[in-house]
Amino acid sequence: MRECNMVTVRIDEMISSIDPNIFGHFIEHLGRCIYPGIWVGKGSSIPNEDGLRKDVVQAFKSIGAPIIRWPGGCFADAYHWENGIGPVERRPRGINIWWGGGESNEFGTDEFIHLCRLVGAEPYICANVGSGSPREALAWLEYCNYGGNSKYAETRASYGHPEPYKVKYWGVGNESWGCGGSFDPVYYAWEYRRFATFLKQADSSIKLIACGHTTRDWNLKFMEVLKDAIHLIDYLSIHYYFGNPQRYGGDVDFTDEQYLNLLFDVQNLEYQINQAISIVDFFSEGRKDIGIAVDEWGVWHPQAMVESGLYQQNTLRDAILSAAVLNLFIKYSRKIRMANLAQAVNVLQSICLTKGEKTILTPTYYVFKMYQSHMGNLALKVKTESPIIREPSEKDSAGSLRLRKNIKPLKALDVSASISQNRKELIITLVNQSLDEDLDVKIDLVGGNEVCEGNLTILNAENVRAYNDFDFPENVKIREEPLTVKGKTFNFKAQRHSINRLALKLTE
Ligand code: AHR
Repeated sequence: MRECNMVTVRIDEMISSIDPNIFGHFIEHLGRCIYPGIWVGKGSSIPNEDGLRKDVVQAFKSIGAPIIRWPGGCFADAYHWENGIGPVERRPRGINIWWGGGESNEFGTDEFIHLCRLVGAEPYICANVGSGSPREALAWLEYCNYGGNSKYAETRASYGHPEPYKVKYWGVGNESWGCGGSFDPVYYAWEYRRFATFLKQADSSIKLIACGHTTRDWNLKFMEVLKDAIHLIDYLSIHYYFGNPQRYGGDVDFTDEQYLNLLFDVQNLEYQINQAISIVDFFSEGRKDIGIAVDEWGVWHPQAMVESGLYQQNTLRDAILSAAVLNLFIKYSRKIRMANLAQAVNVLQSICLTKGEKTILTPTYYVFKMYQSHMGNLALKVKTESPIIREPSEKDSAGSLRLRKNIKPLKALDVSASISQNRKELIITLVNQSLDEDLDVKIDLVGGNEVCEGNLTILNAENVRAYNDFDFPENVKIREEPLTVKGKTFNFKAQRHSINRLALKLTE
């Protein structure tokens, strides 16, 4: 066991307040996410509350899911919301042009809001730009948010919802450069201005999310058109999927090298985040503080194919990746104000998987459970020293010279820290990414009070390929352990491939 592992937490150097919305989720009419992952219908034998499956609602609740994005994804730009309101038997059936099959429209706006209310999450609706119109989006906003006497407000009331829903977050299209309409950035920018002008005028309390891209070119051209209308944008979104079968292997079947490749590539996401931040700051600095919303992210394994409804298993490796990504979001909390894991149930990097009436919680679920203690806290500067576990190689970031120039080796420890607003509790989330080495870590707190007590939560398993399935639902889960630490410097043993949350009380 090595002794050279050091984490320095600067209690006196705050980065920013951590927006709870960076721990958000995303659900889409895709595969088995909505039907039957979330919606089973009122008559179902699966325990449900008004058609929403209870176990899944409970899972969202227990991680304090702060925000849920819906109805897509690609589905959003083909979705016509009026088909999904009113008596279920009168809702027209549609087709899901992106993901196949029919759409019953049983789960629509009222059901989505009900889900959010049961969970305690903010609803985030992605409006249809690609095949929709400002008129359709305005009508949706009126249906959701208007409290007066109007056609759509009365329609909502007549369906049993007299109080406006006050939906604050509205996306203006999804991946408008691709499935959202194959726009070019300039054309989309003008469409964005048109939609946003009317939506903001109708309800100035809403926050609008513009569709960005992980190419610098799109974001630059888009922002250039918006530079005299900065007040219309609140967030620029980017999507980031870790998908590369050669480099990362399969969902449960991967080599040690592929495990390291995946974690090594978190720096590609960091690069994209930096690009997006510098572009929005360049065009808006001093006038408006535009946030970045990573409103779709996660691992996309080769098992997740359209034919199988993008279903994939979720191992401890995926959990470690999600912890490293959440650490990154915390590090950039000055600008990252929202992020939505794709997708919550039965699709891609889920927190829950369902089969009939059974629901299991994935290793990634437990990461969100642990990280909820950071919500609303102040992110702190952290410095880590630990062994390099993966050096850059010739194959890294082929295609992007700019990225290659700044490539960094992957170190075993990946850490984030935050302090509660009242400065009484310190949270350290520490990931030991090493596959074969337990690390004895020295933790040094600088510039604040001492630790007087603490507790530890660990997510780990014997094998990094471990996962939960319907026969063994608790293969990978968190456990609590006593932590006897006092003072400003202490030692902590981080087991190989583990995620650790240290919740530390500080002296007054
Ligand atoms: O999450 C699956 C799909 O990935 C979404 O529908 C789309 O926005 C993205 O390309």
